[in-house]
Amino acid sequence: MASNNGPAAGAPLAGNLPKRKGFMGWLNKRMPVDEFIAEQLTGYYAPKNFNIWYFFGSLALVVLVMQLLTGIFLTMFYKPGELTSFDSVEFIMREVSHGWLIRYLHSTGASAFFIVVYLHMFRALLYGSYKPPRELLWLLGMLVYLALMAEAFMGYVLPWGNMSFWGAQVIVNLFGTIPAIGPPLVEWIRGDYGIADATLNRFFALHVVALPLGILLLVMLHLVALRTTGSNNPDGIEIKEKLGPNGKPLDGIPFHPYYTVKDVVGVGVFFILFAIIVFFVPTFGGLFLEGPNFDPANPMSTPEHIAPVWYFTPFYAILRAVPDQRLGALLMGLAVVSFFFLPWLDRSPVKSMRYRGWVSKTMLTLFAVSFIALGYLGLQPAEGIYVLWARIFGVIYFLYFWAMPFYSRASVDPVKQVPQRVVFNAH
Ligand code: HEM
Repeated sequence: MASNNGPAAGAPLAGNLPKRKGFMGWLNKRMPVDEFIAEQLTGYYAPKNFNIWYFFGSLALVVLVMQLLTGIFLTMFYKPGELTSFDSVEFIMREVSHGWLIRYLHSTGASAFFIVVYLHMFRALLYGSYKPPRELLWLLGMLVYLALMAEAFMGYVLPWGNMSFWGAQVIVNLFGTIPAIGPPLVEWIRGDYGIADATLNRFFALHVVALPLGILLLVMLHLVALRTTGSNNPDGIEIKEKLGPNGKPLDGIPFHPYYTVKDVVGVGVFFILFAIIVFFVPTFGGLFLEGPNFDPANPMSTPEHIAPVWYFTPFYAILRAVPDQRLGALLMGLAVVSFFFLPWLDRSPVKSMRYRGWVSKTMLTLFAVSFIALGYLGLQPAEGIYVLWARIFGVIYFLYFWAMPFYSRASVDPVKQVPQRVVFNAH
């Protein structure tokens, strides 16, 4: 660490860093390494009242790196093509040294990524982190989420199993519901008259090059926006408004070492749970790797129930909740897009649920329940009672967003007084 006083007494500002000798001195003259650490880690003050919900951003970064690394090794043996994809994945599983491990880390990693990102997003709903001044941070997060969905969908097509094929068939055909341009657009996406070799090859290019680059860029912008406004916290208080004599927030503590050390423990716990799944239940009962995908793609044999992987099923349930396919596709799109509008739909004068009334708390709980319920219903056949429940939960889902301008007002949902300073109970 670059501080003489210790970080708690105030980490050195970039201007008065101690002079370094040797290699670090040489390096610092050519690249501002110490300055970067002083500005971004030891000198970056984060709110002192973070709880476990604030761990998932760091964890998302760790999972992103794991997906990139395992993806690189898979690409060394995977061969895109109608005739080669399925067999090359089997080859990785059976013949390549530790290929099974790399593949299961990557396939389980995809599900882990979505679990982490959904928890990360829920935290923002819980503490109003999307509200001003963090709207851009939220919008960039949503773009990351869209790119992740595209990345996961295209990755799922690559093994060219039967669910890869039929899943791609259903999802790509949805673009056909767009008026006027729909049918030619579908053909353009596929590059053929059906899901075929051309489709598989372009999905491969997008999955291994274009989308990872896009995701990395968006995550970088997300972090720049985060550093500009600073983190929100469970009290929803702007800590930058109360500065101490050293110019640092009174309610902040240096990110490093206080939060880095906590994050490292969390990452350890995560990898223990992750390893249990990878080594003992990698298919997770058909949720992480679906049964029909152990059969090669077969255009002559439709799986009994076509369903995407669990992280898409809340939206899939909304798609199938209405009989008209065009309306279903529209509602499914709206279910995702609604998140973008949150900063402007929320009219509450406070950010955190801690200081809101029972109406907002109930609506958020109902939303979380309906999201999980829709996720379950999307895995079931679209018939009878399942469709009825999907409609009920679908209505609750949309009410959370679009009734928010009414129920979040202080006149409808009275708020509690937010304290001037962070309320922190030492553990
Ligand atoms: C690859 C995916 C992502 C990565 C690596 C990532 C990374 C991070 C990190 C490291 C933080 C700071 C630590 C924390 O607050 O947890 C953060 C904060 C935040 N992220 Fe993300 N993020 C990702 C996706 C998303 C998505 C999909 C959204 C929402 C649509 C989102 C919204 C936010 C918000 C609102 C904050 C500020 C929260 C607060 O200060 O209360 N992020 N992100």
